[in-house]
Amino acid sequence: MGELGFSSSSSFTTFRFADFVVVLCLVLNAVVICNGGKTSSFVRKVEKTIDMPLDSDVFQVPPGYNAPQQVHITQGDHVGEAVIVSWVTVDEPGSNTVLYWSENSNKKKKAEGKFNTYKFYNYTSGYIHHCTIRNLEFNTKYYYVVGIGHTERKFWFTTPPEVGIDVPYTFGLIGDLGQSFDSNRTLTHYEMNGQKGQAVLFVGDLSYADNYPNHDNVRWDTWARFVERSVAYQPWIWTAGNHEIDFAPEIGETKPFKPFLHRYHVPYKASESTSPLWYSIKRASAYIIILSSYSAYGKYTPQYQWLENELPKVNRSETPWLIVLMHSPWYNSYNYHYMEGETMRVMYEPWFVKYSVDVVFAGHVHAYERSERVSNIAYNVINGLCTPVKDQSAPVYITIGDGGNLEGLANNMTEPQPPYSAYREASFGHAMFDIKNRTHAYYSWHRNQDGYAVEADTVWFFNRYWRQMVDSTN
Ligand SMILES: *[C@@H]1O[C@H](CO)[C@@H](O)[C@H](O)[C@H]1NC(C)=O
Ligand SMILES: *[C@@H]1O[C@H](CO)[C@@H](O)[C@H](O)[C@H]1NC(C)=O
Ligand SMILES: *[C@@H]1O[C@H](CO)[C@@H](O)[C@H](O)[C@H]1NC(C)=O
Ligand SMILES: *[C@@H]1O[C@H](CO)[C@@H](O)[C@H](O)[C@H]1NC(C)=O
Ligand SMILES: *[C@@H]1O[C@H](CO)[C@@H](O)[C@H](O)[C@H]1NC(C)=O
Ligand SMILES: [Fe+2]
Repeated sequence: MGELGFSSSSSFTTFRFADFVVVLCLVLNAVVICNGGKTSSFVRKVEKTIDMPLDSDVFQVPPGYNAPQQVHITQGDHVGEAVIVSWVTVDEPGSNTVLYWSENSNKKKKAEGKFNTYKFYNYTSGYIHHCTIRNLEFNTKYYYVVGIGHTERKFWFTTPPEVGIDVPYTFGLIGDLGQSFDSNRTLTHYEMNGQKGQAVLFVGDLSYADNYPNHDNVRWDTWARFVERSVAYQPWIWTAGNHEIDFAPEIGETKPFKPFLHRYHVPYKASESTSPLWYSIKRASAYIIILSSYSAYGKYTPQYQWLENELPKVNRSETPWLIVLMHSPWYNSYNYHYMEGETMRVMYEPWFVKYSVDVVFAGHVHAYERSERVSNIAYNVINGLCTPVKDQSAPVYITIGDGGNLEGLANNMTEPQPPYSAYREASFGHAMFDIKNRTHAYYSWHRNQDGYAVEADTVWFFNRYWRQMVDSTN
């Protein structure tokens, strides 16, 4: 795989993509493939996607009086020296304390959190605790205990290395997970992936509780117990999706995102955001900006003003990799949620090109798609320049909404495949973004039907700031 050229492989093709296209076009006269990128020939066995029943092993309540459950962590500050630990108790509030110590020391420290509760329809939540532990050492394994005084449970995590230009780091990517049998396969594949993700960038749509009558919030609890096996040990970075909105004006719930905001705290104040729905973090050599597709983003809105001030703050000599997460994709060639991201694209795409964003991850469409580096910023309503063009300053757009939730797969694609679409496939899976240094990151997508080590779509990313070269399929 030449450095200058494009490097993409699939488990079905061992020869170069360009040859593949030429051969196929000659042999099949395949308009679809000649026109755009690749539509995978892999066809997933059609089976119904159903939620795991309430008595499933993954939903088991931990034993013991008032035992903490639904334990999860996320980054707790802007640079990775703090962690937010969250958990739920059901019998009584119990202790808000987190006891923690580094593996190099026996000196135990304590941090105090707070708890909240909420009601939604006829559901009353347990006691939801959030506690931020601060001033941690970088690159260090910590143990922590919650449930002090009743049933104690112990977990651990490793803090990220100090923010810096050539610091390697491996992010997992999961979206639209839900709690079906397929969701469990996706999570297992992520856990078994030999590349060992160190933190998950989650692109929204967590539990899908709102698909149940009265948004049955018991499914928020079961989801959090299901994913505890990963998120209690490594941070998941949260993006809000449409299934987090939980808008229920008929019962007086006119403020959206109520269950999500009570359950999932994020360090938004550290990035001078005024809302937990949009914020940024630095982690290792990455600067990650999280946006809200379902909050106002027009000119003069808080999200717009925040992003306008935020992008110039990114120092690529400190964090070379600029990654954006959002729920609704801007470039999507499936017949599901088609054009839903268009209005936000119109507002923000010129900034993404100007500031050379490396990659944008989104979910929402329950399938997989990777774009070329394209932009559509020339367009305005009178000039008719409405076709996206190849642009090496533009991000690659990746839709990774294929976590496996109960709504099933999106398999109806627009035809022919548009030129901006480099690879698309209707399968469940997850991806890895493996930063090697300031110039190189290795990206791979893994479908659930394959063995754990198989990479279904791969591409080397060349950093947009440090290495202005072509890394897409043309
Ligand atoms: C809430 O209402 C639903 C539907 O009427 C019912 O099945 C459920 O048991 C109720 N839950 C509680 C906690 O009362
Ligand atoms: C979920 O996956 C785990 C790990 O592969 C397995 O042990 C468990 O039995 C699965 N549960 C269900 C309900 O599929
Ligand atoms: C950007 O980061 C580098 C490395 O940390 C630092 O030397 C430089 O002063 C920073 N630039 C600005 C404008 O803050
Ligand atoms: C796919 O989507 C298009 C556009 O919405 C629709 O016209 C077509 O009937 C759909 N095809 C199938 C098989 O559902
Ligand atoms: C960056 O990583 C790539 C891929 O591992 C490697 O080929 C390259 O030599 C590295 N660059 C430096 C300066 O180490
Ligand atoms: Fe969605």
